[in-house]
Amino acid sequence: MKDFKEITINLDSKLDALGKMALKELNSYFNPNDFNVTIDQSELTINLRLIDLQQFSLIKNTVEADFGKEIGYILTEIEKSINAIKSYGIKNGKRLYINYNSERKVKNRIVKEGRRGKYFYALNNQYLNQNNDLPEKFKNQIICDDSQNVLQKLPNNCIDLVFTSPPYNFGLDYEDSNDDHNWDAYFKKLFRILDECIRVLKYGGRLIINVQPLFSDYIPSHHLISNYCIKKKLIWKGEVLWEKNNYNCKYTAWGSWKSPSNPYLKYTWEFIEIFCKGEMKKTGEKENIDISADEFKEWVVAKWSVAPERKMKKYDHPAMFPEKLVERVLKLFSYKNDIIIDPFNGAGTTTTVAKKLSRNYIGIDTSEQYCETARSRLE
Ligand SMILES: C[S@@+](CC[C@H](N)C(=O)[O-])C[C@H]1O[C@@H](n2cnc3c(N)ncnc32)[C@H](O)[C@@H]1O
Repeated sequence: MKDFKEITINLDSKLDALGKMALKELNSYFNPNDFNVTIDQSELTINLRLIDLQQFSLIKNTVEADFGKEIGYILTEIEKSINAIKSYGIKNGKRLYINYNSERKVKNRIVKEGRRGKYFYALNNQYLNQNNDLPEKFKNQIICDDSQNVLQKLPNNCIDLVFTSPPYNFGLDYEDSNDDHNWDAYFKKLFRILDECIRVLKYGGRLIINVQPLFSDYIPSHHLISNYCIKKKLIWKGEVLWEKNNYNCKYTAWGSWKSPSNPYLKYTWEFIEIFCKGEMKKTGEKENIDISADEFKEWVVAKWSVAPERKMKKYDHPAMFPEKLVERVLKLFSYKNDIIIDPFNGAGTTTTVAKKLSRNYIGIDTSEQYCETARSRLE
């Protein structure tokens, strides 16, 4: 097992006797098993296990005061190099750079993981690991029709990622479709469309569904949809809480006020469920990755605070995605040039962002008006 994380700094010249004394003083402030610096000619090596960087800063000032600015410059380089390491654990308020993953509460984690097994519900699926090309005539199109009809025309395994939000059945005023079906009929229809989405997904492709349950009907749509996907042997990759910070809800609506008789819970967020077909890993060319390090770090934390779309009036659609939400999904879960489909494309936010981010797209909606809006946004 390695004792230290080693960082090497090449100095401009050999360190003189005064410099060596300064390093000796620096080392004297630390437990040598946690941190020490060695020098060989002009090559300085930092041996790092555990450090409190605030304490390091104070010690640096003391050593600099004793040995002068030239030494201070070297100490700043050391501090910068340590700061540049972004992977570490925390132990007693200090940064731990070695074996921080193994210092978890669960001992023998890997062995235990092996014993438990993963996603048992998706094992023995019958999905073919053979992907097909999407016929050119469907590429980069907005298609006005029932998505079940359109999807039936596509070959198996030809789409990289589905991102969509189905009508929630809240009773919204869509241009040409009802949004107040009997729940049983609603789910039957939705599941037929999801069947097609799953069929057209590539092996390793992703099905990502944004859902807001209708809490007042006590219908957990996100669970029902997830259970259906699990029954179809997709792998549940995870769930994002889309925090809309929507505090417009009234406190007493539907439930009891200040009484346990029937309090009604309020939600300021929606759910985004993420599934994979066949395997979790999605292959792609390195040069087609477009997410930055900062975006990645922020977005893998699965609670996304993204304001709701403000231009719904302008586009005359009652339930649009904000572009920022689509951007996160596409950059985090797909590569440039991938084929993205939204079977409930509405005013075309998915397709607009897909185009902006150099993905191929298909958008389907039953409303000609929404399809027109989607086409105009692509321009
Ligand atoms: C929640 S909205 C999606 C809005 C979209 N995410 C956006 O940013 O504009 C659901 C859409 O599904 C459409 N729709 C309903 N049933 C459909 C079906 N069977 N096939 C295709 N589209 C359908 C509705 O017209 C509506 O625009």
